[in-house]
Amino acid sequence: MRRKDRMRNQVALGLAISALAFGASAEPDDDRLVVNGEIEMVTETAAPEHMEGVKTIYSGWRFRSDETQAFQIDDFDNPSMIWVETAQEVWETPEGAADKSCSSCHEGVESMAGIKAVYPKWSDAAGKVVTLEQQVNNCREERMEAEAWKYDGGDMTNMIALLASVSRGMPVNVAIDGPAQSTWEQGKDIYYTRFGQLEMSCANCHEDNYGNMIRADHLSQGQINGFPTYRLKNTKLNAVHARFKGCVRDTRAETFKPGSPEFVALELYVASRGNGLSVEGPSVRN
Ligand code: HEC
Ligand code: HEC
Repeated sequence: MRRKDRMRNQVALGLAISALAFGASAEPDDDRLVVNGEIEMVTETAAPEHMEGVKTIYSGWRFRSDETQAFQIDDFDNPSMIWVETAQEVWETPEGAADKSCSSCHEGVESMAGIKAVYPKWSDAAGKVVTLEQQVNNCREERMEAEAWKYDGGDMTNMIALLASVSRGMPVNVAIDGPAQSTWEQGKDIYYTRFGQLEMSCANCHEDNYGNMIRADHLSQGQINGFPTYRLKNTKLNAVHARFKGCVRDTRAETFKPGSPEFVALELYVASRGNGLSVEGPSVRN
């Protein structure tokens, strides 16, 4: 099956890909990512100790074609930046019964530098691990007295992209011990559970087969350091849980809901598999 798929890919991609590049497709490429000529991204580093099956972790950027990679090298070419600018305006616009904007309490968005790198994270107030989306909605509901945004909707994903953008280049560093540990373990269980008619786990594709071609795709390690992600395929920003949903659906399984406890746990676990890579969001993928 793989051989047939490969041939089909070769036909589809035609001359865009040289035979040499195609033959080398089992490995991530050797390109370095420096954004805007100044933000050095760590796209490859030693796997965190908790990972048994993998020695080296790679950003998904390293598995994309040169054409796709190029979109992320300069913000002028990165289609996500339009929405980052939209979110920047929202950041400063009062909303809700308390007539407050994000900036009323947090000043410039630069005050959020480093925050994206440590989420999902344990919250004492909530008594559970929360994602950045949940934290933002908490501020909207409790502090602005505004309506919560849809978990993986446009307003929210734009805001997460803005928050990610001010952490770019910083190492992902989610905590997996202490009160977060049981959630992390739940996420790990989900990662290794075989789902759907295809009976495939996240690990079957993103741990056992990264580097290989699947249909027209060069399989990455399924890292989330680049989220939110602009996808050339659907020409919009994609939230982490929306991506999880798509991958679970591809196994022809019923999927969990964006914002569900299962996806929060899975996000913490997947984030921890990228501890040490740079925050890259908003990134560009195919
Ligand atoms: C009325 C004041 C207020 C407003 C308005 C407000 N926040 Fe907050 N925000 C807080 C406080 C206080 C905290 C820390 C306590 C907590 O976790 O609730 C916080 C925490 C956060 C955090 C987590 C920071 C960390 O260190 O983990 C993020 C992210 C955040 N806010 C984003 C936003 C965004 C985005 C908006 C606008 C949509 C917003 N906030 C509006 C008061 C506010
Ligand atoms: C049948 C194979 C398959 C399974 C199973 C699968 N995925 Fe994927 N996944 C893909 C493909 C193909 C892509 C697109 C190419 C790539 O980035 O690897 C992808 C992409 C991703 C990405 C985007 C990576 C990036 O850099 O933007 C994430 C995150 C992801 N998967 C997470 C998961 C999680 C979590 C699970 C388990 C719930 C899962 N995947 C299960 C095939 C799979």
